[in-house]
Amino acid sequence: MSEKTSAADFLPDGRSLRTLRQAALDCRGCELWKDATQTVFGAGPRKAKLMLVGEQPGDKEDLEGEPFVGPAGRVLDQALDAAEIARDDVYLTNAVKHFKWRPQGKRRLHQTPRAGEITACRPWLDAELEAVHPVGLLALGATAGKALFGAKVRVGKDRGRLLESPLAPVAGLTLHPSAVLRLRDHDEREEATATLVEDLRMLAGAVAEREAG
Ligand code: URA
Ligand code: SF4
Repeated sequence: MSEKTSAADFLPDGRSLRTLRQAALDCRGCELWKDATQTVFGAGPRKAKLMLVGEQPGDKEDLEGEPFVGPAGRVLDQALDAAEIARDDVYLTNAVKHFKWRPQGKRRLHQTPRAGEITACRPWLDAELEAVHPVGLLALGATAGKALFGAKVRVGKDRGRLLESPLAPVAGLTLHPSAVLRLRDHDEREEATATLVEDLRMLAGAVAEREAG
């Protein structure tokens, strides 16, 4: 048995986003780094009012080293656009910082990270929350939702409203942009995209309201 490790063993003394991002490149806090190309740390301004948290990087993100630059990122970009939120103003990150996959022919197929891997990676997310201190925190999908708000959280019953959380004054959960991609039916896709836009709007609206005092 190997000793139980976590990202905590790899956190730097300095806690600026730049320092964190650099240190995360060398993280060996769980097994996931072994089959991945590189760490995909969060991206966005330190002063972002809104933080979005996905599950883990996908194939494209793994190759580029940036979050949400693949197909799911395109869905997210469209939704942000429609909600009139500038992507550059948002801090984007993931619950897990390495791409977990298994081979299927020539493709690398996404695999949902285990609870132990999410826990192991959590210190990076906590450090990002501490550095950015977002007013609004939105989990994208069930994995991020559970990581942030607890195991009982479900997209079906908990999206579309604000959640109480010690992590940020305004918090919520919506569906994952990849869930939109998985839908084959055109109308269902439109509906899911509209849901994503609605939840982004709600969060951004609540943040703006809070900021206005
Ligand atoms: N899906 C995620 O959850 N995060 C990414 O960065 C890309 C796809
Ligand atoms: Fe470290 Fe997270 Fe990567 Fe595991 S997934 S090696 S904890 S950065």
